[in-house]
Amino acid sequence: MLAEVLAWLFTPATLDARRTGHLTAAVSLWSRARRCRTDWASHEARCGAVVERALDGLPARRTCLVLGSGLMRDVSLARLAESFDKVILVDVVHLWPIRLTARRFPNVRLVDLDVTGTTDLLLGRATGLADPLARFRADPTIDLVISANCLSQLALTPVERVRRRGGLPLIRFPDLGRRIVEGHLDALRRFSARVCLLTDDEGLDVGARGEILERYDLLEGITLPPADDDWEWTLAPLGEAARDHAVVHRAHGFADFHAADARHRRAAT
Ligand SMILES: C[S@@+](CC[C@H](N)C(=O)[O-])C[C@H]1O[C@@H](n2cnc3c(N)ncnc32)[C@H](O)[C@@H]1O
Repeated sequence: MLAEVLAWLFTPATLDARRTGHLTAAVSLWSRARRCRTDWASHEARCGAVVERALDGLPARRTCLVLGSGLMRDVSLARLAESFDKVILVDVVHLWPIRLTARRFPNVRLVDLDVTGTTDLLLGRATGLADPLARFRADPTIDLVISANCLSQLALTPVERVRRRGGLPLIRFPDLGRRIVEGHLDALRRFSARVCLLTDDEGLDVGARGEILERYDLLEGITLPPADDDWEWTLAPLGEAARDHAVVHRAHGFADFHAADARHRRAAT
């Protein structure tokens, strides 16, 4: 608890990230990641393997853009830094552990950015959603984009805030969560670079005897094309989030999201 308070106080986060609740969410995720590191190890290894497939046969390796980079637990920063001329890590908050790690690599840059474009709406400075990834789409040197397990997280803080506070954002965007998830997938589709997508899409509450107590959608009703790899991620073992059940997420890896999308469209026609 003390570590969390200190992290909240001393992380050089933007004032916006503090006001919107993104810093609080990032600190709590960091804390859970430390407690659950053994349970998360196989998920992180599966993510790493999908990224390796994404690197395979990539014709050029100038810039790699990582969205939702967080602590870079699920993607090896060392591997990316040695493979690309430049690596850009984008997250709404970068906590101290990743700031210190990134300092070891002169070709790594951190960008604090809300990739959903909802911050101005949430703080009453805009009436619509921004397109914060446009500037990266305009960068012709980006050869690989990795969306690193952020898709299912993106809507949580904005939707919770809008529901709690109501007002114009709720009237204008009653479907804000869906728009955020759809918006991120659309933004990925509009990159001409290869896109590697790592995401979970379903949560399961699993009882002590392995029985499924509840299933819930994590992507606001949006379905994904079939992935290159699928696995279960024990997000919270028994006793971590609840006494009577563990929380397990269905996770997916797309080494080349454009190709997965194209295969899916072909299969549908
Ligand atoms: C499950 S974590 C994955 C983190 C990271 N890939 C790792 O291995 O540590 C989800 C990440 O999404 C980030 N995130 C949530 N909302 C965001 C937003 N609006 N813009 C950018 N990043 C966001 C969080 O800060 C967090 O780092």
